[in-house]
Amino acid sequence: MTSSDPTQAQARRGPPSPPGSGAPAESPAWATTRDERVLPPHTMLLGGIGGDSHSVGLAILRQALQTAGYRVHYLGIQNRLEAFFRAAPFCSAVLISNMDGHASHYLREFPELIAQHRARREHAPLWYLGGNIHVHGSASQVREILSMGFARVFPSFVDVETVLQLLENDLSGRAPASLHLVGAEIFPQPAHHPGQVVTDARVALTCFHEERLGVLEQWKTGHEAKDLVDNARFLREQPSFSRAQALVSTGERPLLLQPRAGIALLEGQLEMFRRFKRQGLRVLSYQVDSLTRQGDYAGAAEGLRASQNAGASTLNGLPVVNYGVGPLRRVISTIGVPLQTRHSARDPRLLAEISYASGVTSFEGGAIGYNIPYYRDYPLEDAIHAWQHVDRLTGLYHEEFGIVLDRELFGPLTATLIPPCLALVATLVEAVLAIQQGVKCVSLGYAEQGNRAQDIAAMRTLRQMAHEMAHHLGYRDVQINTVFHQYMAAFPGSHARAEALIEHSATTAALAGATRIITKTPVEALRIPSVEDNLRGIALATRGVAAAAGVSPDEPRIAREVSMLRAEVDDLLDSLLRCGGGSFTRGVVEAFRCGYLDVPFSPSVHNRGLVATARDVDGAVRFLNAGNLQLRREVREFHRDRMQDRMHAEGLSFEKQGYLLVERDVMRIPRNQFDHWPLA
Ligand code: 5AD
Repeated sequence: MTSSDPTQAQARRGPPSPPGSGAPAESPAWATTRDERVLPPHTMLLGGIGGDSHSVGLAILRQALQTAGYRVHYLGIQNRLEAFFRAAPFCSAVLISNMDGHASHYLREFPELIAQHRARREHAPLWYLGGNIHVHGSASQVREILSMGFARVFPSFVDVETVLQLLENDLSGRAPASLHLVGAEIFPQPAHHPGQVVTDARVALTCFHEERLGVLEQWKTGHEAKDLVDNARFLREQPSFSRAQALVSTGERPLLLQPRAGIALLEGQLEMFRRFKRQGLRVLSYQVDSLTRQGDYAGAAEGLRASQNAGASTLNGLPVVNYGVGPLRRVISTIGVPLQTRHSARDPRLLAEISYASGVTSFEGGAIGYNIPYYRDYPLEDAIHAWQHVDRLTGLYHEEFGIVLDRELFGPLTATLIPPCLALVATLVEAVLAIQQGVKCVSLGYAEQGNRAQDIAAMRTLRQMAHEMAHHLGYRDVQINTVFHQYMAAFPGSHARAEALIEHSATTAALAGATRIITKTPVEALRIPSVEDNLRGIALATRGVAAAAGVSPDEPRIAREVSMLRAEVDDLLDSLLRCGGGSFTRGVVEAFRCGYLDVPFSPSVHNRGLVATARDVDGAVRFLNAGNLQLRREVREFHRDRMQDRMHAEGLSFEKQGYLLVERDVMRIPRNQFDHWPLA
């Protein structure tokens, strides 16, 4: 293959910029490849198999393979085996990742499919399997998979360099698949749904009510939420989430601490709430189970029955929809603390209806934050449509009954090495979409990354820009709150470090002026926390908040971060609005399509995945590759300089070893490789 081969040149550049994008021509660090004479012209097929949504490892491998000069076809997560076989004849190697421990189950048709493949005498690629392939890994299971026709099996963590080395050895002397045969139809593109039209306009009441009827029929408890007048009568008497937050904003009460807690059985949930209340917590939430989040209410019903029979929770949260309005109204009446629903549901509409009807006064989530980090193929148009229904419902309680309900925008995205500008843009845009539908109280979430100046700058900028944008759009009566998530990526395994993290993270939140902190627990790396674990987290965070009075943050440094961050957010919002023709909703869809918004480590096929991030020498998160993000030259140079310094400090080559830095930074906190928190 020569360097003039268009396919290979395309692979080095990544997908083309959309017409008229004005994307900077400079080549990003990741795209830089080896000497062209030794460039392997092999195509790699990479993807996940199984039910879980973990994609950090896949994202690192994808970038490492690209950096090594391979052409990569990335299938994302949650693929069926057939998807790999469809593209296999055009690839030199097929790399399958399985993280949920059920690889044998997902590969059960492999022997038959590979036999068919061989019978057709198609190009035979190498098959690799890695991840976390067996719940109880054993040598015989590995042998079994090898005997099916896999060249290599990595039953547990393997570093990227090893994979690259083995690939290079295994591929040496092998002819590449004939690339010129590769057509777009072989590598599936994200489903496009031109049918769903989204606009910024407030949803017409007739459309809203018509859609509402269908939503309430999704499960048999839905009809209990139907009567808005009755719901409002009940809701008005309940303690209000927005009022609890307003008291913080006026300085009458200290910031709010909020743990996550949800179990299947209502009595147990109530008992947890009672203990939290005794500890002095002023807001609480239902953490919803994952079957409900997937809209599997029948499955949740089964889980609920099993939990009742066992007398213990077999679900990882409270199945809010299955309980329905009556039982949940008894919870709020008994506990008397403002309640929120926290989830990540794909379709949040029925959950929101039941929540509000049951006296819940805050509902979390949004079209970007509860899509791009969680789902493989959830078109943004569909997500925006669903969330506009939720926002319209939320606004309607105010419009018709004067009740202010809080809408929290999640914010952390994939939580892993997220540069604040991306988190802020996603949350700010979701806030605008909510406000456009009549929401009067928003809480903007942000997940701590670990450099205190950067995190404080992010929180302050988030609040400031939310005010400015609401004003600019003509909304002057919207209550704006900020929510600080304690570190959301893989947590330290060491108990002592986890405890220190929780305490000092709360100090950062207090210095940043957060309205509320979502707290972590010292067992985060190990299990879903018990009520005792949560109480411990609360005690540590309380100490950290108190300590803030004696800490003066580095204001000059914060000011520098603020000014850089504002420039970045301005640029990203500007490109979003430009490609949306002035519309935020169209802008979200188009910006993700063009890579003008691009979330690192996302499992979604609607996310370009060109952006790579790592920490600078001070632990602040920067762009190693800004992909297609439309950032001004000074911003790009700033990030590049910071990354070059870090690479130099680590003795790595900026051109060729970026993925090693990403891998190190992803693993650093869970491996306890840090002396104190925050990192700086
Ligand atoms: N109870 C308590 N915490 C939960 N989390 C998820 N489900 C529950 C639950 N039912 C927490 C995880 C993690 C975060 C994303 O949510 O421990 O910290």
